[in-house]
Amino acid sequence: MGKIDFFSILVVLLLVHGTHVVKSFYGFDELESLDVEDDEIEFLELPSWSSQHGSKVMINVDSFGAVGDGVSDDTKAFENAWSKACSTAKAVLLVPPGRSYLVNATRFKGPCATKLIVQIDGTIVAPDEPKNWDSKNPRNWLHFSNLTGATFQGHGIIDGSGKKWWAASCKKNKTNPCLGAPTAFTIDQSSSIKVQGLTFQNSQQMHFVISHCDSVRINSVVVSAPEDSPNTDGIHLTGSSNVVIQNSKIGTGDDCVSIVNASSNIKMKNIYCGPGHGISIGSLGKDNSTGIVSKVVLDTAFLKGTSNGLRIKTWQGGSGYVKGVRYQNVKMDNVANPIIIDQFYCDSPKSCQNQTSAVEISQIMYQNVTGSSKSTDAMKFACSDTVPCNNIILKNINLLKLDGKTAQTYCNSVTGINYGQVQPSADCLTSSDKSSIEEIEVNDNERLIDKSSIEEIEVNDDERLIHTEL
Ligand SMILES: *[C@@H]1O[C@H](CO)[C@@H](O)[C@H](O)[C@H]1NC(C)=O
Ligand SMILES: *[C@@H]1O[C@H](CO)[C@@H](O)[C@H](O)[C@H]1NC(C)=O
Ligand SMILES: *[C@@H]1O[C@H](CO)[C@@H](O)[C@H](O)[C@H]1NC(C)=O
Ligand SMILES: *[C@@H]1O[C@H](CO)[C@@H](O)[C@H](O)[C@H]1NC(C)=O
Ligand SMILES: *[C@@H]1O[C@H](CO)[C@@H](O)[C@H](O)[C@H]1NC(C)=O
Ligand SMILES: *[C@@H]1O[C@H](CO)[C@@H](O)[C@H](O)[C@H]1NC(C)=O
Ligand SMILES: *[C@@H]1O[C@H](CO)[C@@H](O)[C@H](O)[C@H]1NC(C)=O
Repeated sequence: MGKIDFFSILVVLLLVHGTHVVKSFYGFDELESLDVEDDEIEFLELPSWSSQHGSKVMINVDSFGAVGDGVSDDTKAFENAWSKACSTAKAVLLVPPGRSYLVNATRFKGPCATKLIVQIDGTIVAPDEPKNWDSKNPRNWLHFSNLTGATFQGHGIIDGSGKKWWAASCKKNKTNPCLGAPTAFTIDQSSSIKVQGLTFQNSQQMHFVISHCDSVRINSVVVSAPEDSPNTDGIHLTGSSNVVIQNSKIGTGDDCVSIVNASSNIKMKNIYCGPGHGISIGSLGKDNSTGIVSKVVLDTAFLKGTSNGLRIKTWQGGSGYVKGVRYQNVKMDNVANPIIIDQFYCDSPKSCQNQTSAVEISQIMYQNVTGSSKSTDAMKFACSDTVPCNNIILKNINLLKLDGKTAQTYCNSVTGINYGQVQPSADCLTSSDKSSIEEIEVNDNERLIDKSSIEEIEVNDDERLIHTEL
């Protein structure tokens, strides 16, 4: 978003609502600084395996007895190769190309020596039979923890062999018990992590989880599973901050990206999503819990055929907040619920009762969102009666229904503003005072700008830049 545009919105808000609004929008100033220049996010060049590796120490799983025929159990070889690589400075743990390594549920623990690179060029496959799954690791397959400054990269594939797990899900067949299934790949309690180039596919449940991490950069990953595979989220963030996900293509049977509690400063750029359930914040607030997510930016995304687009979902009875989210330059193709805030989320066999407490949702901006909606409600703001959504901003929205029928906006308990072209119209987000609309127009022509307030904002913007740079 251009700074001028941004400030003109703030000035408009000033005029419409009085100076107190500026304070409550400081979140957006901070979001400005979440913009990451592309060249800042360049990853280290991949080492070229055909040439000299400099001071790197190559540790090949094959040297530890891995067979790579997709049938032999290579778990021990991976564990032993990990011990060696983890204790060796500048190690490269190599899973070589062209073969398929069968590995059981395994915990790869740090701390490790500096500059560990895990180079996955081959395929790692999970055992496919749920009945024989390691009972000590019911919810994890490949689990990495306690790492600092490690890089995961390569052209390899992490394949969860999830077919039998999906068939056993209660979402597939109501006579099945509702049990959790493993996450294919987890990075837990780690910092300064890079992940580049890998493909995650056919996970038992979630594909790639970042939990309790700080400073993670994910670039050019692919996540792929069938549209009807249950709960197979693509990339799931929990308890993590300063995470960048870019240039990635995700298509699964659940959320392409899901961002849950205690996550902040999340930046997504150049994301393709579909099939799937969209790009989600939440769910939050289940079983009266506290959920807090702040400062999320999605810039440049294409969603195709998903069952939701840009979604924020919270359960009745929760507490906490979602605050400071900016979605911009998003194209939708045949997406149901392209823009949706759902504070009545209930992913449970039992129906959920409305309650007085809810996760508060505020300072959410949607800008340059275009394309086609599968549902009549192209925009849906279903907010709690007792904890309304506030400071919701729409700017330049153009969502059309595919069949030529008129798309519409659903609103319950929401306040905010529209700016620029907004289609379908969202009257619930228009100031009730007609004169303020005229003021906006005047202000657009820069005839009525309150200079002192702009200066105030700019100073603040600079301060925030220092503190929130990714
Ligand atoms: C929104 O789209 C317009 C027109 O394509 C573009 O000039 C502007 O930079 C976009 N806004 C953001 C925030 O990228
Ligand atoms: C891998 O799991 C299978 C099935 O539970 C088990 O028989 C085998 O011993 C495990 N391999 C290792 C190295 O633990
Ligand atoms: C992580 O490593 C540190 C040592 O650096 C250790 O004290 C801590 O217990 C480890 N945490 C976990 C979860 O393994
Ligand atoms: C669901 O599972 C039951 C019991 O295993 C089976 O009899 C039934 O055919 C399954 N239904 C479907 C739709 O797969
Ligand atoms: C969410 O995170 C906060 C800390 O940021 C914590 O107090 C709270 O218990 C967490 N909620 C859940 C459901 O884990
Ligand atoms: C959540 O709080 C409501 C209201 O206090 C209570 O009725 C309900 O049982 C609570 N639910 C859970 C799962 O604790
Ligand atoms: C909860 O409240 C919403 C908004 O007022 C309403 O549409 C919905 O029907 C209510 N749900 C229940 C289960 O009472």
